[in-house]
Amino acid sequence: MGCDDVWEVNGSKSMLAMAAGSGFIRTKASRMNDRFPEPPMGYADLMPPHEEARELVVVERLADGRVMELRPRAAEDWIAMKAAAACDGVTLELISAFRSVARQREIVAGKLARGQSLEEILKVSAYPGYSEHHTGEAVDIGCPGCPPLTEAYAGTGAWGWLMAHAARFGFSMTYPRGNVADLAFEPWHWRHRSVVSP
Ligand code: DAL
Ligand code: ZN
Repeated sequence: MGCDDVWEVNGSKSMLAMAAGSGFIRTKASRMNDRFPEPPMGYADLMPPHEEARELVVVERLADGRVMELRPRAAEDWIAMKAAAACDGVTLELISAFRSVARQREIVAGKLARGQSLEEILKVSAYPGYSEHHTGEAVDIGCPGCPPLTEAYAGTGAWGWLMAHAARFGFSMTYPRGNVADLAFEPWHWRHRSVVSP
């Protein structure tokens, strides 16, 4: 894909196919939270629940073997945004994309097992069933040389690029400082919302 092509965001199935390689579509079933402490009263008022995405495509396979999946439209726009950034000399590294409710439960359970309180955990991790990552529309982004998933990302040129350009691709940062969900500042976490054409 050349740098002249990256603004062709709409309807670029071929671009998606190129970048995704052997992308595939599959269905995931929602799972219930069992053997878990209840979320605090009023939690859903701050953090809406999310269904697991039913249709996902593979966008990348990371060096550690993890497969990154997104909903098709989010995948297209992620790939286009990454290519546009590259043309500006900026590397957008995908750290996390779709995450099942079951995986979120493992993450939270692991933190509980290590002695963290649920209140403490919910400052940085969503309660299972409430993570935007379930939608297949959220990505955690890093860049070379920056410790992943840290506030340091907000001091990088890559983050500056996202702040200037991500909206054009339908991505916005969900958890800025002082966010209404009362989550810690997450400069790495961006959610895609499809722009409806007039
Ligand atoms: N870290 C974000 C809030 C999540 O767990 O979805
Ligand atoms: Zn995230």
